[in-house]
Amino acid sequence: MYSKKVMDHFNNPRNVGEIENPSGVGTVGNAKCGDIMRMYLDIDDNGIIKEAKFKTFGCGAAVATSSMATELVKGKTVEEALKVTNKAVMEALDGLPPIKVHCSLLAEEAIHAALWDYAEKHGITIEGLEKPVNDIGEKEEAPEEDY
Ligand code: FES
Repeated sequence: MYSKKVMDHFNNPRNVGEIENPSGVGTVGNAKCGDIMRMYLDIDDNGIIKEAKFKTFGCGAAVATSSMATELVKGKTVEEALKVTNKAVMEALDGLPPIKVHCSLLAEEAIHAALWDYAEKHGITIEGLEKPVNDIGEKEEAPEEDY
């Protein structure tokens, strides 16, 4: 049911933990399943993400997607990190079962929430970044594709 990569990132999640004094931190949840994800980013003066860490209280797919999401945003600029969508995370994990696609939305939104926090703290606007929602369940009405 799950790809080898999903199992690997679930069993050995990368970048678990917290960053002290992060440049940006964001927390999102899904009220429907009760899962919560918090993403910490350390961003340098050039807008490059040096470090990304996460804490996820959630299902296996949420753990695997947050792990992969942190791996994907590390070393990227803020603008590039915005392109790390839930679809990109799923592709990097060789797919997720359709009923688990929503879990990857948590990862995308957690990145956005951390970037939003970073932008607010620095008084900047990140083009293309919309204010994140606290409860990802609000976004679930959007049509989902099969992966
Ligand atoms: Fe809630 Fe996966 S079931 S994030």
